[in-house]
Amino acid sequence: MSSSKDTVPFNGTKEQEEKLLEIIAELKSQPGALMPIMQKAQEIYGYLPVEVQTMISNAMDIPLEKVYGVATFYSQFALNPKGRYQISVCLGTACYVKGSGDVYNKLMELLGIVGGECTADGKFSLDACRCVGACGLAPVMMINDDVYGRLSVEEIAGILSKYE
Ligand code: FES
Repeated sequence: MSSSKDTVPFNGTKEQEEKLLEIIAELKSQPGALMPIMQKAQEIYGYLPVEVQTMISNAMDIPLEKVYGVATFYSQFALNPKGRYQISVCLGTACYVKGSGDVYNKLMELLGIVGGECTADGKFSLDACRCVGACGLAPVMMINDDVYGRLSVEEIAGILSKYE
């Protein structure tokens, strides 16, 4: 999946970097240190952008590809930050047959990001999810704790504008 140019820029602080480097120095010689280091890095930054992956790669003296491979393989790692409003579109079967794929596509178009990304202003992030147990309301999307059901593509722009 290609990344759009509109995602939120990385703005890690010196303190965060120092904290991460300390943790790496402490754990690096232990076998299997990469996973716990990446988990700590995600705790510090909230996600694992390429800038953080590069710090880990340099400090551990391992190839960036290896860090990237782990970051993308395990779903516990997020490569992008989450927005203040986290949109989650159900792509479970009941929702999918009722057109949640179109809803998801419309959101990508309106927000200018792909799934898994966050808008540059940090406002909205977009993800797909599995059945949220509200199949009677299919197709369903959530924005933080708000549930929207029986959605049509035409309604999406109006719903987003409530979060302006
Ligand atoms: S499939 Fe979407 S709520 Fe069940």
